[in-house]
Amino acid sequence: MNKTILVTGAKGQLGRSIQALEKDDSLFTFIYVDIDEFNLCNAAMVDTFFEKKHIDIIINCAAYTAVDKAELEPKLADAINHLAVKQLATIAKQKNIFLIHISTDYVFNGHHFQPYLETDAVDPQSVYGMTKLRGEQVFQKIAPKGIIIRTSWVYSEFGHNFVKTMLRLGKEKERLGVVFDQIGSPTYAGDLAKVILDIIQSNAIQSLPISTPIYHYSNEGVCSWYDFTQHLFAMNQITCQVTPIETKDYPTAAQRPFYSVMNKAKIKLHFKCTPPYWQDSLALCLRNLQE
Ligand SMILES: NC(=O)c1ccc[n+]([C@@H]2O[C@H](COP(=O)([O-])OP(=O)(O)OC[C@H]3O[C@@H](n4cnc5c(N)ncnc54)[C@H](OP(=O)(O)O)[C@@H]3O)[C@@H](O)[C@H]2O)c1
Repeated sequence: MNKTILVTGAKGQLGRSIQALEKDDSLFTFIYVDIDEFNLCNAAMVDTFFEKKHIDIIINCAAYTAVDKAELEPKLADAINHLAVKQLATIAKQKNIFLIHISTDYVFNGHHFQPYLETDAVDPQSVYGMTKLRGEQVFQKIAPKGIIIRTSWVYSEFGHNFVKTMLRLGKEKERLGVVFDQIGSPTYAGDLAKVILDIIQSNAIQSLPISTPIYHYSNEGVCSWYDFTQHLFAMNQITCQVTPIETKDYPTAAQRPFYSVMNKAKIKLHFKCTPPYWQDSLALCLRNLQE
């Protein structure tokens, strides 16, 4: 039977990556919405939407993602990353909708030096991380059918992201300092989108335990932002000289985890996925950017 899938935040990186991959078929009909027609801060608008439309699966790509700005707008960040998730989870539970919600590595404090498991203690260091954690917690409390996927360092050919910013700066500047003491795993949004589409088509979603809905997903491999930039510039023959600097020498409003590599064994096992190596995915993104 044809299922209707609602993708929120459809103009963002992940939303657009899902649209780029999605093929019309007889199994799924996709509805893409963003803030104009589906404002997560407008509870009445969201309720009315679900009164009018039958939805089988929600992929919640919408979020407040401006990590530094969130320090100045904690209420707005909380409304989108927490309170709106509460509403979506409540509706999903009432209407038997499968809810896929996206969260972040920034729920961790980064004091580890071993890839984080889904069960490891959380301790966000920023308003953004805290609001995303509250979103996870309220999801788990209401317990709709569905999963939470934590991801990290997302980039794509769409919107604003580290890769596009660095490509611009690398062409404008002769030298650039980039932090080498924050270690993580980049995630190409196209890969995450593919995993999500594979998950909704898999039989595995019929038999998931509701009590353990969190999964970690990023590309394979580990790097610092400095290494990421060096590799990006080498691939693009950008001659800008990149210098490794410490986080303390690049102050930002929000504190970020020093180490936020996540263990992906669980998602690989349950959904039989094979995340690509980050350098291969970066090459793919760059090819897509040139098209
Ligand atoms: N980007 C990363 O590095 C990263 C890392 C870890 C986890 N994540 C998570 O991954 C998910 C997808 O991230 P992304 O990079 O695709 O984010 P994104 O590019 O910032 O897209 C988010 C989308 O949500 C929309 N939105 C904002 N406020 C809204 C509201 N009140 N109602 C409805 N839509 C609203 C945004 O619109 P505007 O652009 O108009 O605000 C944007 O189109 C998010 O849950 C994010 O927290 C991202």
